[in-house]
Amino acid sequence: MLAGKKILLIIGGGVAAYKSLLLIRDLQKQGAFVRCVLTPAGAEFVTPLSVGGLSGDRVYQELFDLTAEAEMGHIELSRSADLLVVAPTTADLMAKMANGLANDLASTLLLATDTPVMIAPSMNVRMWEHPATQKNLKTLKSRGVLTVGPDEGDMACGEYGYGRMAEPEVIADAIGDHFEFAASAETTLGTPQGLRGKRIVVTSGPTHEPIDPVRYIANRSSGKQGHAIAGALVAEGAEVILISGPTRLDAPSGCTLRAVETAEEMLSETLNALPADAVVCAAAVADYRVEAVAENKLKKDDENDARTLSLVENPDILKTISQLPNGRPELVIGFAAETEKVIDHASAKRARKGCDWIVANDVSTGTGTFGGDDNQVTLVRDAGNESWPKMSKDDVARRLATKISEALKP
Ligand code: CTP
Repeated sequence: MLAGKKILLIIGGGVAAYKSLLLIRDLQKQGAFVRCVLTPAGAEFVTPLSVGGLSGDRVYQELFDLTAEAEMGHIELSRSADLLVVAPTTADLMAKMANGLANDLASTLLLATDTPVMIAPSMNVRMWEHPATQKNLKTLKSRGVLTVGPDEGDMACGEYGYGRMAEPEVIADAIGDHFEFAASAETTLGTPQGLRGKRIVVTSGPTHEPIDPVRYIANRSSGKQGHAIAGALVAEGAEVILISGPTRLDAPSGCTLRAVETAEEMLSETLNALPADAVVCAAAVADYRVEAVAENKLKKDDENDARTLSLVENPDILKTISQLPNGRPELVIGFAAETEKVIDHASAKRARKGCDWIVANDVSTGTGTFGGDDNQVTLVRDAGNESWPKMSKDDVARRLATKISEALKP
């Protein structure tokens, strides 16, 4: 995927800068042209001579470098690339990018570019976990900046945690995945906005099943994946109705939000939103609800036994929509959250419910899928199973939107 691709590699200041030298090699071996920018902090860790020696090109360091301006302006430098990769990306570089600062060559290039950008963060664990950095990360992701890493492990500063820059081969793979995805989006869609004129319903988030006026049964779903799908479908031009259980998230702009609490409300709003061309059931619907919701708060000394809840099964929204005798949407997609035998269980679930596709994901402890920002999914369809690499939930959403657009194409 990398043959002939032009990559502008910005090397920031960090112990991990030496790994970027290996990255240059790796990318070149795969046929990419690599041009490098070395920040002043980066130059404290690797020399312009070694960077230039490996890239076989001049190394750009200063914003006001008149020779460079005469040869190639900084705007041209960033725009002539197919992808900008910032590795290592320091907390400072992330802050500059998130806030639009342009006071040196690297930040100016990043602000002036209209080509995709990938960052490989590298910093101390406390700096990574600091709310300021996490907010910057969120801002950058919401603008479509691609991320790879950071990894968990021992740090040069002696601490342990998340903050180690991803290994060069992992960054190279992520770059390859980006170009592969971009190429498939181009061939399958032809033009963006492939879902113009299509109406799609998305369920998202958990449901809350009341026990009494103050208590409820719920689950750990954050709604991130469902909301991201709604946003990606809007970006593709679809009219989107997002039916969401209680979450902390704002509905992506451009979609119509129907906020619900319980599974029964979610089903009724989903049916109300039909007819639709597609329905994506990404919600983590509670399987059961309390048979008789107490009118008043249950008390410890209640004569009724408040320790035993009698549960009844909730309606299955995905199954109901998939098996509608009339007005079944052309494409019905479900998710399968599994903790073991992920593909086997997902395939069985697809057959049982009668939906067209299942997006299977592993939510076992340690994967961080529930509530996390990343997801590793397998698309289970008649056409065969497709395992996607681990990527952000936003990227999963974009990829799924592309697949949906391809499937609904006249
Ligand atoms: N789903 C639904 N309504 C329900 C339960 C699940 O629409 N009452 C949908 C979810 O939105 C998801 C899919 O069904 O798209 C699978 O959900 P999951 O919780 O993995 O499966 P369950 O049907 O609950 O099966 P199990 O708990 O046995 O794994």
